[in-house]
Amino acid sequence: MNKPTNPASWEPSPNNLEPFWMGFTPNRAFKARPRMIARAKDMHYYDMSGRAILDGSAGLWCTNAGHCREPIVSAIQKSAAELDFAPTFQYGHPKVFELASRLATMAPGDLNYAFFCNSGSEAADSALKIAIAYQRIRGEGSRTRLIGRERGYHGVNFGGISVGGMVANRKMFGSLLAGVDHLPHTYNRKEQAYSRGEPNWGGHLAEELERLVTLHDASTIAAVIVEPMAGSTGVLAPPKGYLKKLREICTKHGILLIFDEVITGFGRLGASFAAERFGVVPDMITFAKGITSGTVPMGGVMVRQGIYDAFMNANDHVIELFHGYTYTGHPMAAAAAVATLDLYRDEDLFARAGKLENKFADAAHKLQGTQLVEDIRTIGLVAAIDMKPIEGKPGLRAYKAMENAFHDHNLLLRITGDTIALSPPLIITENQIDELFGEKIPAVLKSVASL
Ligand SMILES: Cc1ncc(COP(=O)(O)O)c(C=O)c1O
Repeated sequence: MNKPTNPASWEPSPNNLEPFWMGFTPNRAFKARPRMIARAKDMHYYDMSGRAILDGSAGLWCTNAGHCREPIVSAIQKSAAELDFAPTFQYGHPKVFELASRLATMAPGDLNYAFFCNSGSEAADSALKIAIAYQRIRGEGSRTRLIGRERGYHGVNFGGISVGGMVANRKMFGSLLAGVDHLPHTYNRKEQAYSRGEPNWGGHLAEELERLVTLHDASTIAAVIVEPMAGSTGVLAPPKGYLKKLREICTKHGILLIFDEVITGFGRLGASFAAERFGVVPDMITFAKGITSGTVPMGGVMVRQGIYDAFMNANDHVIELFHGYTYTGHPMAAAAAVATLDLYRDEDLFARAGKLENKFADAAHKLQGTQLVEDIRTIGLVAAIDMKPIEGKPGLRAYKAMENAFHDHNLLLRITGDTIALSPPLIITENQIDELFGEKIPAVLKSVASL
């Protein structure tokens, strides 16, 4: 293609959908029938014609405070006008220190330090690097192996896909995914179907870590990383006792335990972090999404005191950790995050999510028995509805459900495989919960029943 070299002739072409290669999207199908979002407010998106669409998934599990909330919007505007950028390598700015202090008081136990990056994927890779470096600094340099879990999702960077357990995200990149092993996932439909909160069955699966330790030897293992509740592969709450057992085994063998709380952080399960809800203090917590309620990209890692201290032994002028991103602690992200945390506090949104949990679960589980529904799982303000796959075409029924939900039933939802995942902003009202599970989802299920 001949492209104009003169910037004056670079035509803006908002109606040309072709050049944007969309991630995690079937591009040709989307571009043939786009689902275009123009603006958002509180619980709703609006399409180009102004049609209101209920946000059933907090965007991508991130807009926990609801959309375009005024205090966050003004904080971002003020920050953009006051300090566009400041490096946080060798320099600093007040907002990011304020934010780290706030997080240190929110995080459980002695998770007293915050390392910042720009996404959940970077958070996962940062935590894995910190784990390996920490083991080396404390004289355990042979501990380089990382343990993840089947059906785990830790973003798309190389560390994250290595420990992740989603085959489609890994299979193309095989030879680069060395030095890891995986725990089995914790889902068993026969034993756990229609679970509310933590399933009773499956706590014993944490013992599989002992098997991996026997196989590889503890002296080769740096860290275990799990999502306390696996979100992206269909909402798998931890079985009762599972996370506590993992904690015990990690402590016994000198292995660091990392909770990936990119989804579960900031109120999704009715507490600041899932670690708090489940009463287990990991060695690191990764976060992103809800930290700014999705408004400005930001991610990070909370780190325990002892890990940070171990790095602080070199001479004063020497960099302790050779890791960081240009936009680490970006002023606008930090300002958005502080305003978001204020809003969560002022509206008591985490407790609100906790109080709504039963209502949400009751409404979701009422769909048991609906044609095609094979399982429903709920915890916090999250629900998953497994639909029967179309024979020979896995994922097609859910894809159609998503299309129909958007175009015909004014609902934005998330799908994975043939599962519908719902995780609305924490400001959802009881009436909107009824609308979601009593009207919209039944209509969507009906629309794909005869496929
Ligand atoms: C548990 C978990 N970790 C990491 C990520 C990756 O986050 P990002 O898409 O911001 O890189 C996600 C995204 O959904 C996630 O759910």
